[in-house]
Amino acid sequence: MNITDVALSKATIQTNHLLNNINAFKSLMNADTKFMAVVKADAYSHGAIPLSREMEAQNAADFFGVAQLSEALQLREAGIVIPILVFNAVRPHEMAYAIKHNITMTVFTPETAAEIVTVAEELGIKATVHIKIDSGMARLGVTTYEAARELYDILQSSAVHVEGIFTHFADAKESSPENYTHEQFRRFKNILDQFEVDGVTFELRHCCNTAGTINFPDYHLDMVRVGLGLYGLNPSVSHQDSIQLTPIQTVETTVTYVKDFPAGESVGYGRTYVSTEPMRIATVAIGYADGVAKNLANKGFFTYNGHRVPILGEVCMDQIMLDVSEVVDIKIGDHVTYFGDPKDGNIQITEVAKTVSASQYDLLCRMGARVKRVYSVNEV
Ligand SMILES: Cc1ncc(COP(=O)(O)O)c(C=O)c1O
Repeated sequence: MNITDVALSKATIQTNHLLNNINAFKSLMNADTKFMAVVKADAYSHGAIPLSREMEAQNAADFFGVAQLSEALQLREAGIVIPILVFNAVRPHEMAYAIKHNITMTVFTPETAAEIVTVAEELGIKATVHIKIDSGMARLGVTTYEAARELYDILQSSAVHVEGIFTHFADAKESSPENYTHEQFRRFKNILDQFEVDGVTFELRHCCNTAGTINFPDYHLDMVRVGLGLYGLNPSVSHQDSIQLTPIQTVETTVTYVKDFPAGESVGYGRTYVSTEPMRIATVAIGYADGVAKNLANKGFFTYNGHRVPILGEVCMDQIMLDVSEVVDIKIGDHVTYFGDPKDGNIQITEVAKTVSASQYDLLCRMGARVKRVYSVNEV
C-alpha cells in the first residue's frame, strides 16, 4: 500500500519552471560567475533531494548550499556529487563526516579552524573551507581583517583548501544608494582588499542572496547564492521587472463536504464567523498542520477553477471551511488551491504572506509532511 497515493493535499512542483528561473538568474550574471542553489530546509520545503538531482542532472547549479551538515549528508547519500557548502558551523565530532564526503565547511572561530586542520591531517584527506565574514548581519562570522587573517593562518596546512570567503546581506530587498547592502559590501570588500595586499586571494568570494543577485549586479563577485528565487518568488521591492520568475509550486486540497447553510449560524472554533444569509459552504482537507497560515481566518481565500472562495471562521488543524456560494457547481472530491501561479488564476504565496503579515519564506517552509509532493515537468 502506498499511503501517499491517498493523500488529500498535493503540492505539484514544476521542475521546468525551476530550471527556467535559474536561467533567468544566469541572464543577469557574468558567464564566469558561479551559481549556488540554496536547498536548505528541504529546499524551502519543496524537496531538496528531487530538486537537487534535477539541477545536477541538467548542469544547472555549480554548488548547493545548506544550513546544516545533516542536510549535506542527505544529499550525498542521494547521490549528489557537486560541491555543497554548509553555512552553519560543523562541530568537531562531525568534521570527519564532512571531510570524507567532500562537504565544504564554513569557518568563523579559531577553534573550529584548528580542529579542521587536525581532523583533515589525521584522515589524510583534504578539507575544503570557506571563511565567514560578518559584515552587518550579526549572525555568524568575524568582523575584522585581523580575525579573518587569524583563521586563514590557522588553516594553512596541506590538508586544507581555503577555497572561499563569504558574507551575507541583511537587507538587500531594495537598491537605493542609502541601502545598507552598500555598507555591508564595503566592509566585506575592505577585508578582501587587505588580504590581497598581503598576497592572499580566494577562488570564491560570495555575498549575494536572491535579492542581492537581482538588485546588486556589481556585487555578484565569483558566485551568487540563490534560494527563494529558485522557487519562483521575488523578495525584492526594486527591479521587479529585471527578472521574470515563475512560482514552481501549486498546493491544492480536496473538498470533503459541501452543504447549504442557513443564515444566523456560526462556523468553526470560537464561532468567529456567523452567516448573515443562506449560503453554500465547502469543507476542505487542509489546515494549519499542513502549513496553511492560521491568521488567514476570515480574511484569506482559496481558489476553485480560478474563482476566489473566502475562508470562513478559523483555520482548523486539518480542515477549513470555504464560502462557495458563488461557485455552485463545486462538489465533494473537487480540488481547491491554496497557492500557486497567478497566471493560472491562483493566489501567489506572496499575496498570502501580505494578507497575514508573514514572510513568504516562513509560509513556504511551513508546508507539512501530509502534503504529497508531486514533481512534474508539464504545465499544471
Ligand atoms: C548564507 C545564506 N546564503 C543565501 C541564502 C539564500 O537566501 P534567499 O532565499 O533570500 O536567496 C540564505 C538563506 O537565508 C543564507 O542563509
